[in-house]
Amino acid sequence: MARIALIPGDGIGLEVVREARRVLEVVATAESLDLTLDDWDLGAERFLREGVSITDAEFQALSDDYDAILLGALGDPRVPTNQHAKDILLGMRFKLDLYVNYRPCALLSPDLSPLGSPPAELRLDIFRENTEGAYTGMGGSFKTGTPDEVSLEENIATRKGVERIIRAAFAFAESRGRSRVTLVDKANVQRFVGGLWRRVFEEVGSEYPDIDRDGMYVDAMAMDLVRRPGRYEVIVASNLFGDIISDLAAEVTGGLGLAPSANIHPGRHALFEPVHGSAPDIAGTERANPLGAIRCVGLLLDHLGHAEAGERVERSAVASFRAGCTTPDLGGEASTGDVGSWIVKHLETSYAHGD
Ligand code: NAD
Ligand code: IPM
Ligand code: MN
Repeated sequence: MARIALIPGDGIGLEVVREARRVLEVVATAESLDLTLDDWDLGAERFLREGVSITDAEFQALSDDYDAILLGALGDPRVPTNQHAKDILLGMRFKLDLYVNYRPCALLSPDLSPLGSPPAELRLDIFRENTEGAYTGMGGSFKTGTPDEVSLEENIATRKGVERIIRAAFAFAESRGRSRVTLVDKANVQRFVGGLWRRVFEEVGSEYPDIDRDGMYVDAMAMDLVRRPGRYEVIVASNLFGDIISDLAAEVTGGLGLAPSANIHPGRHALFEPVHGSAPDIAGTERANPLGAIRCVGLLLDHLGHAEAGERVERSAVASFRAGCTTPDLGGEASTGDVGSWIVKHLETSYAHGD
């Protein structure tokens, strides 16, 4: 028996998690998986209604009672401080110590890429450090709002934090037969933090003599991901640089609406979420692409030990796109629910045929 917490959150999170849930239910029935799906009401509505984003008891329950969490997105124009999103999403990343933010980006079809002539095969696996860097909230502001204001926002790198994400990237590269790991940083300016990342990268990388390693400054990397993305395979970066590079890599490989991600503490906790946000500009219009969330279901099933079922979900997601059943972001006219229904049907048919 596995228990899954579903947190749709805000905006299009509600629409895409609704479809992801249907996909999960179809697979659970067909594979006789004993899954319990619990809906969690965490998001802007609750925050505005009760003045509470998430309680300690809720963190405890999410930590102790679940095998995995599936989250849609958090962010609402009615909460301009984004306080609830920080409390809930960053709260889970920090409190559950989900130090690996794995963001796989694969180009499903060349015509999906905004690049003129993308490589025939393009797969970028991003390992984003998820528990420190510029995200800890360590800092403050003095003489706030006056002409003498001083504001600080620290960039934290610990030996432990840097080493464990670099190890995760190299171990992944080795297990998947990838030939190169690239470190993205700004070591030419950030000497201390950058220096630590470079030293640990060399040290850990030297344990993997068959895997090439190189370091790229983040500005040059942004350029090169557009110029020659096929040069890269596995990418490891700090929290902030990984956040930026992962939106770029998602767009280069077909669009933000397609990209899934996993926030993991190996052996302990896992939270899956599409890379995109709550997209207030299209929320409630059924124009959201649910593929990022549905592909999260693939990652989640794989995480629970059902790798074949996960691959089946991925195949059905790809098939929906190939069949032309796509939302407007990919040039189609299908609604969020149409894409979900297409995938549900495709899965049912493939199970019925024993494919
Ligand atoms: P966003 O990812 O929500 O949207 C960026 C653009 O991409 C928008 O034009 C949007 O319409 C489009 N888009 C995103 N997902 C799409 C999908 N599935 N289908 C079709 N189009 C899609 O980023 P933003 O506008 O910078 O942020 C909006 C809110 O979401 C903010 O509050 C932000 O903090 C939050 N956010 C949350 C998460 C998360 O919960 N993991 C991630 C990113 C942003
Ligand atoms: C992401 C988002 C979050 C981040 C925000 C919403 C806090 O952009 O998951 O990529 O910056 O990590
Ligand atoms: Mn982001």
